[in-house]
Amino acid sequence: MCGIVGYTGSGSRSASASGSGGGSAAVREAQDGDAAGLAVSTRPLEMVLEGLKRLEYRGYDSAGVALVGPGSEHVAAAKKAGKLVNLQTELSEHPLPEATAAVGHTRWATHGGPTDGNAHPHLADDDRLAVIHNGIIENFGELRQLLAAEGATFRSETDTEVAAQLLAREYRAAGDLTAAMAATARRLRGTFTLLAVHADAPGTVVGARHDSPLVVGLGEGENFLGSDVAAFVAQTKEAMELGQDQVVTITPTSVTVVDFDGRPAEGKRFTVDWDAAAAEKGGFDSFMDKEIHDQPHAVADTLLGRTDSSGRIVLDDLRIDESVLRAVDKIIVVACGTAAYAGHVAKYAIEHWCRIPVEVELAHEFRYRDPIVDAQTLVVAISQSGETMDTLMAVRHAREQGAKVVAVVNTNGSTIPRESDAVLYTHAGPEIAVASTKAFLAQITAAYVLGLYLAQLRGNKFPDEIAATFDELRDMSRKVRTVIERGEYVRATARSMAGADKVLFLGRHVGYPVAMEGALKLKELAYIHAEGFAAGELKHGPIALIDEGQPVFVVVPSPHGRDQLHSKVVSNIQEIRARGARPLVIAEDGDDDVRPFADEIFWIPKAPTLLQPLLAVVPLQIFAMALATAKGLDVDQPRNLAKSVTVE
Ligand code: M6R
Repeated sequence: MCGIVGYTGSGSRSASASGSGGGSAAVREAQDGDAAGLAVSTRPLEMVLEGLKRLEYRGYDSAGVALVGPGSEHVAAAKKAGKLVNLQTELSEHPLPEATAAVGHTRWATHGGPTDGNAHPHLADDDRLAVIHNGIIENFGELRQLLAAEGATFRSETDTEVAAQLLAREYRAAGDLTAAMAATARRLRGTFTLLAVHADAPGTVVGARHDSPLVVGLGEGENFLGSDVAAFVAQTKEAMELGQDQVVTITPTSVTVVDFDGRPAEGKRFTVDWDAAAAEKGGFDSFMDKEIHDQPHAVADTLLGRTDSSGRIVLDDLRIDESVLRAVDKIIVVACGTAAYAGHVAKYAIEHWCRIPVEVELAHEFRYRDPIVDAQTLVVAISQSGETMDTLMAVRHAREQGAKVVAVVNTNGSTIPRESDAVLYTHAGPEIAVASTKAFLAQITAAYVLGLYLAQLRGNKFPDEIAATFDELRDMSRKVRTVIERGEYVRATARSMAGADKVLFLGRHVGYPVAMEGALKLKELAYIHAEGFAAGELKHGPIALIDEGQPVFVVVPSPHGRDQLHSKVVSNIQEIRARGARPLVIAEDGDDDVRPFADEIFWIPKAPTLLQPLLAVVPLQIFAMALATAKGLDVDQPRNLAKSVTVE
């Protein structure tokens, strides 16, 4: 949810020569002398603002920064409700001093409305301490009462301010910010990443994480903290993943990790495998448009390296014993939102190829319904961010019940893969727009690979059948590009429908999750009531929604595909048309059966039925984006949403 950035240093490379170097993951106690050699500059503020710009997709209810430098009496802070641009305006009118360390925050509101007062950072200890936070502190009520009884006064309605006051109290007792942060973390229940700076430690940023993300960026003469690597990837690709329940202390020349009991701990180093340009708009009007155009690559890259020279599928990263995978008698996909619709597509493919029953469960429902899970169950957790709290909790619950968990995740260094038995990374690159597009295609692609791998392992299909399907899958990247190239017709249709207030979506078989995803895209981007239905369900109720001129998207399966599927959907189109609907049809090139009954047809290349979702969803993505744009809405940052949902 919220985006968090921390920075210390001045960017001067010589600063690293004296220490173990910011580029080292070595654990080193911060030296007392570190503060003495600190040079103030504008870089700390510049770095946190740049980080916030890249993390703003995580929340945009408010933004704020806090800075410290040698000799400063107080933390210097600024914060503003609304998007980052409001904070930038505030800073241009009321500049902050040069500094040696800084923290920055972009908020998705939980406790307390999106006001200036509730914006982070929150100050304490006579304004010498500043704290920012991502997550929810569940025991904040009782802590607030306790602190108030001891004389603390509060200036906001947030749970974060309680953490700030508690940290101030622990700091007064311990005299050391790292020890105080560990002591504070031990007192908190819920989920949190906390970052703090104190005027007493002008070159230091301290962070703690429990069930919320935090990664370290390792620079030269400078170090970074961020909710994800986007915060610092323009400066360094060297990063360190932190474990659960750890406190990290960064200075310009050191990174120190301890657990919540103060015992030395270690982070895990990795190199970010995409560059900052991948997280830029690259000449497109929006990240969403750029990410739609990235989709051919997302599909192709997710398939790269998955076969050996003989064409057999190899999943080196799937560290689950083959005998365990052969014994699996049920698969449960857990995911949320778009990722769950990818899971629905996976169900059709895996059941067909492997003859294993597959259930798809919204992750937040799974955990609370006492699911039947055992050692023969394979749970597949799908998540772009790898941080979705609902999905993470489902993963933990499944493992507690003895199931093996495979994570299908896009973000390196995230929590869900670390807590799973195995991971199958999608290679969509960074997805910045809140509405998921390329991650969806990459998730479906990875699910196909997993399904084919299981079919190969369990002998459900002959090797040549698997190789043929894999070849068809490889060809999908080219076909996705063709659909994107045909996008202008979709855009024009969307522009002509900017006044629509209700749009329905129908599909059968794998077209059903595509219909639901099309509806979700339209809801979240254009704020239009949109519903996706299984076409066969129409006559059981939803057909009552149809009146004169009602736009209804229909995903038509391949006429060359499964028995009767195509003709049933063509009949459904006729049924709605007879009741005045305006059918907007997605159909395969050359499908003459649909022509007489469609108001508009969005053609997609021929593809095997099970693979068609990779193509059919693309016009729906383009439609939602173009319609929202025609309404003057921000397609990258729709209202009330955040990219990564790290609260339950
Ligand atoms: O990061 P995840 O894939 O776990 O996120 C899951 C959903 O929150 C996400 O797909 C959401 O539905 C998107 N905004 C849809 O566009």
